Formats: sequence, C-alpha cells, structure tokens
Amino acid sequence: MHFPSDLAATRRDVLIATAAAVATTSSSSQLAAQASNDLAPVISHVSFEVNGTRRELSLDARTTLLDALREHLHLTGTKKGCDHGQCGACTVLVDGRRINSCLSLAVMHEGDTVTTIEGLGTPENLHPMQAAFVKHDGYQCGYCTPGQICSAVGALEEIKAGIPSHVSVDLNAAPEGTQAEIRERMSGNICRCGAYPNIVDAITEVSGRKA
Ligand code: FES
Ligand code: FES
Repeated sequence: MHFPSDLAATRRDVLIATAAAVATTSSSSQLAAQASNDLAPVISHVSFEVNGTRRELSLDARTTLLDALREHLHLTGTKKGCDHGQCGACTVLVDGRRINSCLSLAVMHEGDTVTTIEGLGTPENLHPMQAAFVKHDGYQCGYCTPGQICSAVGALEEIKAGIPSHVSVDLNAAPEGTQAEIRERMSGNICRCGAYPNIVDAITEVSGRKA
C-alpha cells in the first residue's frame, strides 16, 4: 500500500506514540501492583486481658484499641465520638490508668489489663461511680457516659496516688480533690448534653468529699 509522505509520517508518529503509551501503561500497572502490595495489611497478634478474661486477637496492625474492643470483641459500651483524642468518649482503663483508646494501637497492649465500662460493674451490682452517676443524674443522652465513668474512676485513683493536676495549689502536697480539681481532671471528657454539674457532684460523692 502506498502512503503520501506526510501521511506516512503521521502513521509513524502514531505507532511510536502507541508503543510509548503501552510501555507507560505497563510500567504504571507494575507500580500500582507494587503499591497495593505495600498497602496490604500486616496482620499482628495481640494477647491481653479485657474485663478479667484473656483475649487473643489477630488483627490489622493499624487497628486501634477502640476498634479492637468494639469491632473485634463486640464491647460496644466504649463509644467512638471524635476518633481523634478530643472528646474522651472512648476512655478505658489500661492497667488502672485512663487512656483514650482511639489514640492507641491494640498491638501496643500486649499483656496489658484493659477495663471497659462493661467490666466496672454489672446492672445488679453497679460500681460506686456508676451508682453515683445514676443517683445524681450525671447524663442525658448517655453517649459520653461510659467514657466519663471510666475517666472519673481513673481520676480519683490519680488523686489517691498524689498525682497533681494543673490546678493543684501545692505540687508538693497531696492533691485535695476539690471540685475545681475534679473539673480540671475531667476536662478531657466532653458532654454535649452539658451534664457537667451533675457529673462533678457524682464524682465528688465517690471521692468522699462534700459537694
Ligand atoms: Fe477517642 Fe473522642 S473518640 S477521644
Ligand atoms: Fe449526652 Fe453527655 S450525656 S453527651
């Protein structure tokens, strides 16, 4: 077949461009495959005690403690609010200390003891902090309440251990556990219903101080 010279040039250009496009596509699909291999989840094993029971989990190493509790162990009492460490709804106790479980990877807790709201008391035998929240109406919608209660239990332990807060008057003396102290220590737990005065009254009662 005969092509006029300008048409022949165009045809050659098209062939070159096509070959280049095929080469580019094949190298980008190799890159995409490599990237998807790199993003494949790394499965890790973790063993910890949750509410008195030893639990073994195999999960994506990126799973937070909050998601491990809620999605893998189906302990949905612990709530996900912001998932960014800003609301305190996800507070649980780890080895007796309160933490935001949304900010902590589950695999960091190998061998730890985790207590969630389900492990603090039972409906028939409430933890004193749960009973005080009921007595003082320390909630409305209740979404923040599991985190508030776990946090309050941890906060009173901190006072008992002599750990000062930002409003402790004397850093060398035992914290007094005043209402100002309790408010400061609970400032990481947000309540959109604004039940704060009743929450503070409940914690004050459990602390043994008069409101
Ligand atoms: Fe963890 Fe808000 S969900 S701090
Ligand atoms: Fe509703 Fe606290 S009781 S957010």
